[in-house]
Amino acid sequence: MKLEMKQARRNLCWPRQRLSFSRRQQARRSRPRSRSASAAPSELNLHERKFLELARALAARPRLVLLDEVLSGLTPAEVNDAIGLIRRIRDRGATIVFVEHVMRAVMALADRVAVLNYGKLIAEGPCEAVMKDPEVVRAYLGTLMLEVVDIKVNYGAAPALWGVSLQVHSGDLVCVVGPNGAGKTTLINTIAGLQAVTAGALRFNGRDISRLASHRFCAAGIAIVPEGRRLFTAMSVADNLTLGSFVPMARAHRAATLEQVLGLFRC
Ligand SMILES: Nc1ncnc2c1ncn2[C@@H]1O[C@H](COP(=O)(O)OP(=O)(O)O)[C@@H](O)[C@H]1O
Ligand SMILES: [Mg+2]
Repeated sequence: MKLEMKQARRNLCWPRQRLSFSRRQQARRSRPRSRSASAAPSELNLHERKFLELARALAARPRLVLLDEVLSGLTPAEVNDAIGLIRRIRDRGATIVFVEHVMRAVMALADRVAVLNYGKLIAEGPCEAVMKDPEVVRAYLGTLMLEVVDIKVNYGAAPALWGVSLQVHSGDLVCVVGPNGAGKTTLINTIAGLQAVTAGALRFNGRDISRLASHRFCAAGIAIVPEGRRLFTAMSVADNLTLGSFVPMARAHRAATLEQVLGLFRC
């Protein structure tokens, strides 16, 4: 038992056979910088635990190392550290396949990138070329839906927004934050067509909508839930919903859409 423990500890601490001085140095640098080898993983921080997992995998002397999102949750400084570490492991001759979202690391480390989307390989090749591939851009970013281009919005002579630019891709969830009076509601109302643009442009799916009448924004597919309640209080819930589904795009599918909408709110 004692012997087994000794062997296991030696495995964790790196290869079984004697290493040259330089390889010993490399191995030492690849190991987690834990305070002590006897520390429990629960005593290590996330960074150290990730490195320990990596070191344990390396202790098996693999020919192929598979890294699945090992950089997620690390701080930028820790990512830099990990990039250096992975580079050193690779320089020792390891072959690595890694799944990663941290593009900085992908660009810094990978010889080749393969991009999967919904189970299908959509691109493969050198990083620079693959990252410019239109299908990859579409899969990663979605298509460009809304462009707010350097807009200015005035209330009379008083400016409320100026120099505001924003891009929103399909599938994005973008949050606008700012203190009271910063212009958030003005921006939302402007994108909904309720507030006129004084200068600059609004583009929706490539079309300039800056000067459209507000009801045309609805027809284009933009809906707003305004600040403060704006319900038709004399009408029933069903009538309020039916009114919402009156825009030409929704009218043809009204019954199915209402069913879907109600389904969302059922517990
Ligand atoms: N209808 C309005 N007429 C004149 N000034 C307005 C009007 N609505 C907002 N403002 C002014 O525009 C600025 C931005 O307001 P708003 O967009 O409501 O900010 P937020 O939603 O971030 O609190 C503020 O200085 C506010 O006083
Ligand atoms: Mg507001």
